[in-house]
Amino acid sequence: MEYKLRKAEPRDVSDILRLVKELAKYEEMEHQVTLTEKELLEDGFGDTPFYHCIIAEIPGDNISDDPKVVGFAMYYFTYDPWVGKQLYLEEFYVMDEYRGAGIGSEILRHLSDLAMKTRCTGMMFVVAENNEPSLQFYKRRGAEDLSQEEGWRLFRFDKDSLIKMATPAEE
Ligand code: COA
Repeated sequence: MEYKLRKAEPRDVSDILRLVKELAKYEEMEHQVTLTEKELLEDGFGDTPFYHCIIAEIPGDNISDDPKVVGFAMYYFTYDPWVGKQLYLEEFYVMDEYRGAGIGSEILRHLSDLAMKTRCTGMMFVVAENNEPSLQFYKRRGAEDLSQEEGWRLFRFDKDSLIKMATPAEE
């Protein structure tokens, strides 16, 4: 299948949000997506980008049609005080009808090249426990399951907890 990978541009935010929602639906958590295109635009394409995306697209059906965005990965850089720079893979999705054609592997190759170029020492990501096909996809490529092997547990302070801990707003 003919496809190409490229860096996301501001014009891609509607496709990014569409794919974010598709992945959330796949994970049966679609109702948790509250993000808007406006936020994606501000957060990814301002002076300090909070995320980056790599986009996979195929040519349109007709020569005059725009290419179609069929997959993406969202990532950013984090820092591990023991070993240094890490690439964090936040989202990774290829539309159902385009899976199995190598797009996902090519995205991982691109991210691995980037990780090497930027001297990252690893790529971190979270996988839902019940997403068996993806657990196997990553394991076949050598990923370690840190929850199982090292016992790390994933935590979050939600906004209400943050408000309780934060400096109270002045009256
Ligand atoms: N659907 C899925 N996988 C298929 C397939 C199909 N119809 N047909 C074959 N496969 C196999 C391929 O043989 C390949 O096996 P390999 O690991 O031995 O290489 C693998 O599944 C898919 O490889 P590839 O074609 O390079 O990746 P992809 O383009 O299918 O993308 C994912 C991989 C994980 C991004 C994609 O399957 C996906 O979007 N899954 C649903 C969302 C998801 O779980 N995302 C990850 C969240 S952590």
